[in-house]
Amino acid sequence: MAERIVLGIESSCDETGVGLVRLDASGRVELLADAVASSVDQHARFGGVVPEIASRAHLEAMVPTMRRALDDSGLRLSDVDGVAVTAGPGLAGALMVGVAAAKSYAAALDVPLYGVNHLAGHVAVDTLEHGPLPERCLALLVSGGHSQLLLVEGVAKSLTQIGSTIDDAAGEAYDKVARLLELPYPGGPPIDKHAERGDPSAIDFPRGLTGPRDSRHDFSFSGVKTAVARWVEQARREDRAVPVNDVCASFQEAVADVLTAKAVRAAQDHEIDTLVISGGVAANSRLSALAAERCEAAGITLRVPRPRLCTDNGAMIAALGAHVVAAEGKPSPLTLGADPGLPV
Ligand code: KG4
Ligand code: ZN
Repeated sequence: MAERIVLGIESSCDETGVGLVRLDASGRVELLADAVASSVDQHARFGGVVPEIASRAHLEAMVPTMRRALDDSGLRLSDVDGVAVTAGPGLAGALMVGVAAAKSYAAALDVPLYGVNHLAGHVAVDTLEHGPLPERCLALLVSGGHSQLLLVEGVAKSLTQIGSTIDDAAGEAYDKVARLLELPYPGGPPIDKHAERGDPSAIDFPRGLTGPRDSRHDFSFSGVKTAVARWVEQARREDRAVPVNDVCASFQEAVADVLTAKAVRAAQDHEIDTLVISGGVAANSRLSALAAERCEAAGITLRVPRPRLCTDNGAMIAALGAHVVAAEGKPSPLTLGADPGLPV
């Protein structure tokens, strides 16, 4: 197969991402550009993403972000051989901006369009950093919107969800706990920082869905969030100073413990020897340290893309598009629509 340049467009949440990759004749995918514009600052005072604000921000950022990706790569639009775009899951209005842009570029350039799944993109991005994935691997996706365990048998071919959260996503729990501790949004980075100086065993917060009769591969994070809220309320009622560092470290330990224990167990249940962790929460220092420790003990190879690639971006969509091209997947029609609830 001849070399191909694939453009990727991401707009499912609050990041406008445009990425460019090169697919070479041997099927390897190389990162050429990864431009991202975030509207996170505009959502901060609301403590979470406001869909209307996100959609408008995508509209404003799409063309400048495209220009930046082209400038960074030294390519021209006419070099592009295919356009991949996140078709879902995500916020309806936000997705529509990316899908409309991708359709316009594909039509104007007369190249194939590939509507792809955002969750698969979070897995595919790891090939930009660590090379081809083995035939079978397990992916733990943890972000503000998702907490899932996926069995991956070819990232462009077959992804099967074997577990997911039954309530809050892991990142959502971080954001809500940060809010009640009066820490800034998004909550992951400040909690991670405070946790460094706290004692992870100071408070024994609950580990959701880890009882003997509970679902083996599903998650629940609303219990730990409520437990933190109760603990903090009680301390405030009793006029005790809230030990923010200890609360953060203990909460972080509970989340990392459950995520890594369940990921390792799922890998063992499915006889899989490679685990990929991706999504914004993969940047968490305790999660990656504990995952490394437990994977090593279980003989599992751990792959975590660098934080910049873990959060939403266009390069992950371009990478997945390139894998679809390499697998000779079918292009999407120009009638492609956004699907907010797109399953894997
Ligand atoms: O993947 P992402 O950028 O966006 C989506 O939600 O799709 O993930 C954002 C989430 C937020 O909830 C944020 O609090 C969390 O990732 N996050 C972290 C860390 N950095 C970001 N959570 C824990 N520790 C971190 N260091
Ligand atoms: Zn995401």
